[in-house]
Amino acid sequence: MHSTMRRIATLCLAAGVVCAPSAALASNTYEGDPAPDLISLREAAKAKGIVIGTAVAGGGHHDATPEQNPFRNSPIYQRVLANEFSSVTPENQMKWDHIHPEKDTYSFTLADEIVAFAQANNQVVRGHTLLWHSQNPEWLEKGTFTKDELRQILKDHITTVVGHYKGKIQQWDVANEIFTGEGKLRTDENIWLRELGPEIIADAFRWAHEADPNALLFFNDYSAEGINDKSTAYYELTKKLLNEGVPVHGFSAQAHLGTQWGFDTSMRDNFARFDALGLETAITELDVRIKFDGPRPSDELIAKQADHYGQSLRACLDVPGCKSVTVWGFNDTYSWVPSFFQGEGAATLLWEDYTPKPAYFRLLKEMGVEPTVTPPPTNPQQPPAPQPPATQPPAQNPGSTTPPPSTPKPNAPGDKDKATKPGAGDKKTPQKIAQTGALTGIALLLGGGLAAAGSMAMIARKRY
Ligand code: G3I
Repeated sequence: MHSTMRRIATLCLAAGVVCAPSAALASNTYEGDPAPDLISLREAAKAKGIVIGTAVAGGGHHDATPEQNPFRNSPIYQRVLANEFSSVTPENQMKWDHIHPEKDTYSFTLADEIVAFAQANNQVVRGHTLLWHSQNPEWLEKGTFTKDELRQILKDHITTVVGHYKGKIQQWDVANEIFTGEGKLRTDENIWLRELGPEIIADAFRWAHEADPNALLFFNDYSAEGINDKSTAYYELTKKLLNEGVPVHGFSAQAHLGTQWGFDTSMRDNFARFDALGLETAITELDVRIKFDGPRPSDELIAKQADHYGQSLRACLDVPGCKSVTVWGFNDTYSWVPSFFQGEGAATLLWEDYTPKPAYFRLLKEMGVEPTVTPPPTNPQQPPAPQPPATQPPAQNPGSTTPPPSTPKPNAPGDKDKATKPGAGDKKTPQKIAQTGALTGIALLLGGGLAAAGSMAMIARKRY
């Protein structure tokens, strides 16, 4: 069966109906398509009422690689980026050292390209980041400024950058990594906290809100996935700021995970407590690194990785206000991990050649889409990997309850996730327009058998 037909068959199986194939859909795949038998991550996510995003590679560790900027230089990278993801985050291109390289110079070009790409491909954008201890330019870190000057510098930066992207950024990581693992403010490393005190946090949120009242403003950090000292520090600070009327709208866990650690099953409960404060939650930098020797990790570790990905997504799906799951790169070639952690890697959803790992299929499965064909073996040097279990392993945290089955999430008031709004996913490329009739035919064939309107819409919005 042609791969496109298998995609449709998969959809129909997921919907519990029998579908007739249509030859008109024969050009429905693209070079580099990670899983031509399945609908994309973004389509599956859309049906669940969330967006699925990725960091867009460029800057940072990419500067030391021959390719430097895959987003600009790799057509396959761009196709997968457009077709699999409904949200994008500039990995480095909006950070201070990139976007504000000199005191009186802003450099928007790279970030503008990403935002334009997102708009052209009907993706939302997460802005990253405005107040951080890292990747600040030398002129800032080594300059001599009075407190008033520093405050003005931060205000100008936030006003200028957020203002530049007004209406184009769905969520901003306003304050990034401001707490230590012990839940103390990073007053030594973070120039803003050190020089201006903790009150600057509220100012940063206020200035960002003034510059773009519709952007959702987030705290964002790593090792804050579960309930621990760090995430509790965010929880307490958020409560305090909300009481003071500070415009804080979200809490996000980066989720840089590793197979050497168990999965923290309190992620869901952690998100739920922020949810109860009225905040959105999000996973913003998900990857699962693996320690291994040789060309590829063992199938056992790859299966464990898939489980970490799956449990993370599940935690988000189970919390109503969690509407965005972003992976920190989707292809191992471009992952930040090997350049930071010697002997570790293979952290993303796709191998270097864009073939999918079990983690990719596991994300689809969590969103209700199962392969109708057996995924290829992950490690050519080993027997095929056992598939991840269909159900979650028992929770490690005795306090964690079994999550209820997830349903598509309604848009929250003020939700600007245009990718989840009806019709927003219908970018009319010529190819797509040509396919619309055939898709309508498939939808008609499904007829009343597809009482689930969401499933019908999902098929009608297929993009290839
Ligand atoms: O600034 C130095 C420069 O002086 C030096 O000449 C050059 C030599 O390679 O390195 C430059 O530093 C680089 C830095 O980006 C600034 O561009 C580092 O090598 C490079 O490793 C670093 O990488 C980025 C890292 O953030 C910096 O913290 C990664 O590309 C990026 O993926 C990573 O992303 C962060 C998120 O923003 C926040 N959460 C954690 C996540 C992973 O670290």
